[in-house]
Amino acid sequence: MESVRRCPSRDDTERAGEEFAALLRPGDVVVLTGPLGAGKTTFVKGLARGLGVVERVVSPTFTMVREYETPARDDLRRLHHADVYRTSGRGEILDLDLHEWREDAAVVVVEWGEMAEDLFGEVSFVVTIHPDRDSEARDLTVEGPAALDRSVDLERWEAS
Ligand SMILES: Nc1ncnc2c1ncn2[C@@H]1O[C@H](COP(=O)(O)OP(=O)(O)OP(=O)(O)O)[C@@H](O)[C@H]1O
Ligand SMILES: [Mg+2]
Repeated sequence: MESVRRCPSRDDTERAGEEFAALLRPGDVVVLTGPLGAGKTTFVKGLARGLGVVERVVSPTFTMVREYETPARDDLRRLHHADVYRTSGRGEILDLDLHEWREDAAVVVVEWGEMAEDLFGEVSFVVTIHPDRDSEARDLTVEGPAALDRSVDLERWEAS
């Protein structure tokens, strides 16, 4: 099953992230893929807002991973936001100990995470951002094992 949501503007992508946050459960790992500048960080900004993060979410490019508190959610304490694009390769990704961020009270979101997908055991969702050829629009697709058992919520997400 694959869900698709069209996001004509930057704000739409942010809102898609914000509403996607409502679907997330403790221990979820979300892999974000899409070309450079597709809107992955934009989506995470919205997702963070949906979890009640108050700090400004910035691209974790040089730190690789950033951690935020998620006060809007009783069942979660943290959002880990990573970007593994600039890792020099597999060895460096392994050194990040990505799997250790997966914890009971957290959600992990990894930009360019397709490079590290297998390190997590199971990834809950893969969100792919497809830029439109001749407009600013993006098509967001959501797949993954969690998409099956949360299909009702996803259908709502898709339609809003
Ligand atoms: N519909 C849209 N959705 C998302 N971003 C958009 C859209 N239209 C224009 N933009 C612009 O595209 C850029 C997306 O940047 P963003 O940092 O979110 O991408 P990214 O995928 O995280 O990039 P990187 O691969 O460098 O991590 C922003 O400048 C944003 O304003
Ligand atoms: Mg980014």
